Amino acid sequence: MFNHILLAACLAQTYASPLTPRAAVTPQVKSATYLGNVTDPALDRDSCGSVRIGTRAFWTCRDTMVYNTQSGQDQLPIIVSTAGWTDAVANTGGPAIKTTGGTVGAASNGKGPILQMYGNNVNSLKEYFPIASDNCNTNHGFCSDGTRWAIWPDSPPLITKSSPKSITAYNWIPRAHIQGLTLLNPSQAYSLYRTTYTGTSNKNTLPTATLVTTEFWKAGEIGFGDYGGVVKNGYAYLYGQNFNHNGTFIARVPTGSVETRSAYQFYNATSLTWSSTLPSINDTTAVIPNAGAGGQGTFYYSNYYKSYIWIGQAALEPVANFYISTAPAPEGPWVLPYKLFQGTNGDGFVGAYSLQANPALLPSTDASENGIYLTWTQPWSTGPYVTPLVYLAFQ
Ligand SMILES: *[C@@H]1O[C@H](CO)[C@@H](O)[C@H](O)[C@H]1NC(C)=O
Ligand SMILES: *[C@@H]1O[C@H](CO)[C@@H](O)[C@H](O)[C@H]1NC(C)=O
Ligand SMILES: *[C@@H]1O[C@H](CO)[C@@H](O)[C@H](O)[C@H]1NC(C)=O
Ligand SMILES: *[C@@H]1O[C@H](CO)[C@@H](O)[C@H](O)[C@H]1NC(C)=O
Repeated sequence: MFNHILLAACLAQTYASPLTPRAAVTPQVKSATYLGNVTDPALDRDSCGSVRIGTRAFWTCRDTMVYNTQSGQDQLPIIVSTAGWTDAVANTGGPAIKTTGGTVGAASNGKGPILQMYGNNVNSLKEYFPIASDNCNTNHGFCSDGTRWAIWPDSPPLITKSSPKSITAYNWIPRAHIQGLTLLNPSQAYSLYRTTYTGTSNKNTLPTATLVTTEFWKAGEIGFGDYGGVVKNGYAYLYGQNFNHNGTFIARVPTGSVETRSAYQFYNATSLTWSSTLPSINDTTAVIPNAGAGGQGTFYYSNYYKSYIWIGQAALEPVANFYISTAPAPEGPWVLPYKLFQGTNGDGFVGAYSLQANPALLPSTDASENGIYLTWTQPWSTGPYVTPLVYLAFQ
């Protein structure tokens, strides 16, 4: 009897889905728990995001400096991107928080709690994403005319292929040319980087990033993948933003063809169709409403909610206010982003940025939990950049 009801319910769902779109889910917070800072105490790091590789989380970060624990000062040079691992709790999974015995250093008072990053040798710190040869790469992107090539990842690597021992993943990174905090080339091109990793017995060995195509998306084109991505049903779905960062576009490509530009398709949000016509960055017919609140965030698929989810920052709101939007399909319809959680701010040049969801830290590999881990960057006027880790349980 029970089995029959279950089967009937499954059939109803199967038949219903192509006709009626599933209702959007709207998760709400039940509780928020601060778990510690995510840090390698030997490094001061900005803007980290994570992806799951095996049982561990792999993090890529932006500007990183060696932190001198004696003087409490950062040491030059500034490395524009670095990477590191964090461990999961054996058997049960979830981030392996050190409650005691942490090393004193950046964002670590030596007593804990911290989620310790590792995998770097502070004596040979180098860019995780190699800087192109025409971007002052012999001086870490700093040019003799006082400008800088800030090759900063806005999203962690997107895994398109994985086996028990190895993975392939991709990043689309803007070729930002800056002077101070001014972006000199707002119509920047985007480089495609491939990350590969094969498991070894040395826990410290990091994956390798290779520059595949220096200008994969050309100057003035939409930087699909930079705003985030989700791999589902054989496709990589890739999000990009318009010129004013107030409109999101989506492209898709079969996971095996990421390096082939002609294999990409683009979504037209007016005709509701995919085609090989690349929309202009100022085209409003291709903008998918509400796919992100404009600031940095994370797209992922929640198996618990059977829904695509975006969590991140609102444009022009540089504080730790986390917004959420959800959709039954990668291209939408996305619900109007609403405020989910307010984290604590730093006291630096802004309160917080690089707001991230971290499904990589969940015990399941497919976000089957009714909750999510959040991180953000707190800049402090007198101290290192801090990456707090919070677990949100949903109602
Ligand atoms: C985490 O960072 C905050 C902000 O700087 C700091 O007050 C706190 O002591 C840090 N936690 C640990 C365990 O070091
Ligand atoms: C898009 O609009 C911006 C701002 O108006 C302009 O500077 C840029 O050249 C336009 N890009 C394209 C490809 O039309
Ligand atoms: C984005 O902002 C610009 C400038 O304020 C405005 O003209 C444009 O209509 C906005 N685009 C969208 C898709 O909302
Ligand atoms: C999207 O579809 C609309 C309606 O069919 C059309 O007017 C528009 O030109 C299309 N945009 C692109 C980029 O193909």
